[in-house]
Amino acid sequence: MKTKIGVLSAGADCPGINSAIHWLVYSATDKDLVPRRGMMFDIVGIVDGWKGLIEVKPEKKESVKRWTMPLSADIVRTWDRYGGTRLGTSRVNPFNPQKDRSEELIQNIKKLRIEALVVIGGFDSLGVAYKLYREGVKLVGIPKTIDKDLSETEYTLGFDSAVNIITQDIDRLRITAGSHSRIFVVESMGRRAGWLALEGGEASGAAVILIPEHEFVMERVIELLKIRKKSGKRYSIVLVSEGAKPRGMEEIHQKRGRDGFGQYYLGGVGGFIAEEIEKHAKMEVRYTALRHLQRGGSPTAYDRRMGRKFGIGAVDMIANEDFGRMVSWRH
Ligand code: F6P
Repeated sequence: MKTKIGVLSAGADCPGINSAIHWLVYSATDKDLVPRRGMMFDIVGIVDGWKGLIEVKPEKKESVKRWTMPLSADIVRTWDRYGGTRLGTSRVNPFNPQKDRSEELIQNIKKLRIEALVVIGGFDSLGVAYKLYREGVKLVGIPKTIDKDLSETEYTLGFDSAVNIITQDIDRLRITAGSHSRIFVVESMGRRAGWLALEGGEASGAAVILIPEHEFVMERVIELLKIRKKSGKRYSIVLVSEGAKPRGMEEIHQKRGRDGFGQYYLGGVGGFIAEEIEKHAKMEVRYTALRHLQRGGSPTAYDRRMGRKFGIGAVDMIANEDFGRMVSWRH
């Protein structure tokens, strides 16, 4: 008898998810590991994250075909080198207080005969996973988010690829900034964690790095830029994380409202900073928000390797019945 594993990716996509799925399937279907694990597995992918498990009608063949995808080593053979998620994803929250659909989802897992679920998710989706575990669903998590804002793990899939993109993009901007003697304000993602801006800024030699963990003072930013200019520097890069907050002001949002998880739509602080510099420093300024470019492209070597470790780790946890926890990278 084979144990049926379901796998889904939920929340934001990022490079490394497909690598984790590739290795999860390879490990789960590796015949040499059967004697050690004492189990064999069938793997089914769920399309579009939690949405797929809510919308699927298990009694209807067409619907099962629409929302699930049987996975084999043959099918996922080349997935490890592609960014995004081949299973698709969504930001649907099954526990949305406006319309709670968690019970339907739990019933669908049972009807699809999924005995263990692997959730590749970030802050919000692993939160959903934990709630489902408390409702009796056997599952394990794999941490992924370019924000690297999860506790209990030192790495989340996608982070290294995003830092590399920030570094490469700033290298490009530096060229035009130098030609024109301009200040470039570059805005990175990261929600309320400054890792992306900090490590991307360190790697690319940004003159000023602003992160959500420390409110910043606009006058001081301008002062630093003036000092640099006086010392003969033709240009400066200011790298600001989308969640960074000017002291004494509200957080800046790109649009009103919140998503299904109650998260604000962050973004726009770079535009504010650019305007302030131009107003008070008589310097020519341009503003670039990197936004979703940071989540695109293929995974770096590091993300492929971490996807491998996380994918294999998830199967080991299922074999050990170590449910309700996530694979993590520590020490
Ligand atoms: O959590 C990952 C992330 O990329 C954040 O850095 C960003 O604020 C958010 O997702 C953007 O979400 P969306 O893709 O829904 O616009």
